[in-house]
Amino acid sequence: MSEELEIKVITRDGVTNTLRRGAGHETLMQLLYESDQGVEAACGGCASCATCHVYISEEWVDRIPPRDQVEDLLLTYSEHFDPARSRLSCQIQLSDVMGGLTLEIAPEE
Ligand code: FES
Repeated sequence: MSEELEIKVITRDGVTNTLRRGAGHETLMQLLYESDQGVEAACGGCASCATCHVYISEEWVDRIPPRDQVEDLLLTYSEHFDPARSRLSCQIQLSDVMGGLTLEIAPEE
């Protein structure tokens, strides 16, 4: 695992932060949660709460694995669901090819 992976996060306040993956960050949610980006992650990453909801930037949507059925179903219940960009960050495994990934934290439910 490379620890140099950096992603850009736009917070709910409109601030852009650059985060670097550290040891133990397997998923995008873990990185966001431990960096205090406003992701509650109430269920701990088992795709049942949607408090890790983010919007992936348009240029990155097709460059990461798509939503599976469980993720898709949970997100469609969100009032802030964006069919094109919504993801549960706990369902995205960080990988070295994600350097420069940009995302926005979705509004709280
Ligand atoms: S942390 Fe609960 S759905 Fe992602």
